[in-house]
Amino acid sequence: MNAKVYFIGAGPGAPDLITLRGARALGAADVVLYAGSLVPEAVLEHCREDVQAINTAGLNLQEQKDWYLRAMQNGWTVARLHSGDPSIYGATAEQMELLRGLEVPYEVIPGVSSFTACAAALGAELTRPEVSQTIIITRGSGRASPVPESEALAGLAAHRATMCIFLSGRQLETVVAELLTQYPPETPAALVQRVSQPEERHHRAPLGRLLSGLKLSDWALTTMILVGGALGEDLGVTSRLYDPEYAHRFRRAEGGAE
Ligand SMILES: C[S@@+](CC[C@H](N)C(=O)[O-])C[C@H]1O[C@@H](n2cnc3c(N)ncnc32)[C@H](O)[C@@H]1O
Repeated sequence: MNAKVYFIGAGPGAPDLITLRGARALGAADVVLYAGSLVPEAVLEHCREDVQAINTAGLNLQEQKDWYLRAMQNGWTVARLHSGDPSIYGATAEQMELLRGLEVPYEVIPGVSSFTACAAALGAELTRPEVSQTIIITRGSGRASPVPESEALAGLAAHRATMCIFLSGRQLETVVAELLTQYPPETPAALVQRVSQPEERHHRAPLGRLLSGLKLSDWALTTMILVGGALGEDLGVTSRLYDPEYAHRFRRAEGGAE
């Protein structure tokens, strides 16, 4: 057998929020490399009992490469398990580059990203007619991954779209101050931590009061910041999709032509 690597989206942490395809690929793997800082071990329940499970939290890229080389030599199937969806803040592109260099075939299996799982936990839709039809996914600048100047938070916030801000639990005060330069203080906002995991918790408040009374260090890790008018409840706005007067390919308008 020739080696192959599957990049698998683990989802936000609950073992039943991985896709069927992801769980099957995980169940067929000889080796699983997983980002243990974000992927709970519970997700490994889909693996074979004799799988070699390696937590990559302590490995650098060269050490990960060594695992891919071992897989090549032994014809192993490798599951590279990333939290949420592998295409978002997964540092997967550099691994794919490495695999292309080694001529090891790879395939990507998407996952439920944490931002959609957070929306689900809040019972919210992120796009609302006339309020916001745009979702901005971003993060505060980090030591390992600086954000380009053209994507500064205040500039993105000027759109007043729905924003989902990753990787910024340690910068809550800075992030909220930047957002408040553009969004009115009454804009609905939320923090969601470890969504779908046993420690899940959320906190909703208008942006201007989002951090009042919170012990900020409790929210430093695995937290999503969501903000935008769309998160408001009982907005009284409805899409035209189910309007009886609105016809489309699958439904005639009441008393009207298709
Ligand atoms: C390295 S990024 C990985 C994102 C991942 N690829 C995704 O699609 O969700 C890690 C950040 O994602 C967010 N995150 C990941 N899992 C989460 C969860 N279960 N609950 C809340 N936020 C989460 C947090 O903002 C965290 O700092």
